Parts: sequence; C-alpha cells; structure tokens
Amino acid sequence: METKKIQIVICTGTLCHVLGGAELPSLEQHLPNHLKNQVDIKGSPCINHCKNTDMRPPFVEINGEVIEQASITRIREHLEKLTANDSK
Ligand code: FES
Repeated sequence: METKKIQIVICTGTLCHVLGGAELPSLEQHLPNHLKNQVDIKGSPCINHCKNTDMRPPFVEINGEVIEQASITRIREHLEKLTANDSK
C-alpha cells in the first residue's frame, strides 16, 4: 500500500522570511533521500501563527502540527522522529 506522505507547509510570509525563514524554501534539497520521498512540501503565504505572540517565527506546519523557530535542522529532526515511529 502507498504510504501517506508527511505534509509540510512552509510559511513564506514576510515576517517568517525576515525572522529566519529565508532558508526554508530550499528544505527539500537538504533532506536525505529517505526523507525526501516521504514528504510533500508546500509553501504558503502567512499561515497566521505570527499573530500569536507566544510563539516565535519562522513557522512551519508538519502534518498540521506547528513548529516554531523552524530551521532546516529542526524540521529534519522532527521528520526523523515521525518516520522512526512509523512502524506500520
Ligand atoms: S508570516 Fe509566517 S505565520 Fe505569518
């Protein structure tokens, strides 16, 4: 059976871009092949988390879960965890 891809939404809004998110759109190039095959990466204009002052940009959503202060390293670590748990 086809495994469901992990949905990644990268915020490309101005605030996230300025506050560290500029590298995020190149995420796919930085993922090892075993992760690359399992993700579906989309960019999206402001996904509204920057309106929540308790959370720090830049933001990325992974399967609907918000990652704050996202960086390629943090996203990658999160993906490694998700795929490690995926024993099905
Ligand atoms: S600019 Fe990224 S959540 Fe608003």
